[in-house]
Amino acid sequence: MHRPWGGVVPELASREHLAKIEHIVEQALAEAKVTLSDIDAIAVTQGPGLIGSLLVGVCYAKSLSWALDIPLIGVNHIEGHVYSIVFENPTVEYPALALIVSGGHTNIFHIPEEGKYEVVSRTRDDAAGEAFDKVAKMVGLGYPGGPVIESVAREGDERRIHFTKAKISDGKPDLSFSGLKTAVARHIRENSIVPLESGDIPGQEIKDLAASFQAAVVKALIGTMEKLAVELKPRTLIVAGGVACNLALRQAAEWTAKRLGLPVYFPSKHLSTDNAAMIAAAGFYHLKQGKTADLGMTADVTMRLQNMGSGLGESLRGKVRYRL
Ligand code: KG4
Ligand code: ZN
Repeated sequence: MHRPWGGVVPELASREHLAKIEHIVEQALAEAKVTLSDIDAIAVTQGPGLIGSLLVGVCYAKSLSWALDIPLIGVNHIEGHVYSIVFENPTVEYPALALIVSGGHTNIFHIPEEGKYEVVSRTRDDAAGEAFDKVAKMVGLGYPGGPVIESVAREGDERRIHFTKAKISDGKPDLSFSGLKTAVARHIRENSIVPLESGDIPGQEIKDLAASFQAAVVKALIGTMEKLAVELKPRTLIVAGGVACNLALRQAAEWTAKRLGLPVYFPSKHLSTDNAAMIAAAGFYHLKQGKTADLGMTADVTMRLQNMGSGLGESLRGKVRYRL
């Protein structure tokens, strides 16, 4: 539905949410072989995100919670991605360092203990997934760009084009992908690469470009994570979000984790991209903490994972601390 537009169209998304939410809830209950009376609480994405889609979910969740007389929990979408790993990995040992890379967000969180987050790196401009989507669009590979760039990159030579890592002028361990996007556009122009039309098979030039671009993104993300891991000495690494589907990213994270002697946890592919199970998992943690919402709760487009302070090394304090 969004493909012809090369990205998510907010209005279309919220209308579809409205049309499908009831059916999807019914289908999920049927597949799980439970009924609404078996449900103990309702967790819902409160933010950040697109207002229309968030409102559909929040209104529906509030109605269910009220009608069933069970607790309501507002979950931060990004915290949901952090919890997407709980289903298939051993219990996380804290402190942890989590790289959350999606279409809308790219952050590294220091998590001193469960439920406390400190942003130690963030993108200054585009999210990593957004960069994949935009580069795919430039060469006519379609939307969403991540999976298609990854598959085309498999037959490309990542050493063919050298894209330099963006320099962050104030020296913070942040990320930037808009310069990389411009460098890709320049390479396309200077080498007269013609964007593909639908049905065209990508040639070697586009394969090499995809591989070199992907390698540059992976290097920036994992290199920054490694640097922060050396400083912050976490006991667990977490890599999640839609871009965590990318095998090159997973492999680089695994090598880094091995070098550091740390475990690294990923969600499986279907739990990497946006899903409701991760929201339920984060909601379950809050429910155990007694942190529920009342019916006055509403969608929060710019919701932040609060900076709650941590055991962040003094040398880094102030230098790398942000709110999401
Ligand atoms: O987490 P997600 O499903 O939605 C957001 O919260 O944004 O992430 C979607 C993003 C898209 O930008 C998509 O291109 C990217 O994840 N993505 C990938 C791959 N699969 C999805 N990026 C790189 N490689 C992939 N295999
Ligand atoms: Zn997401």
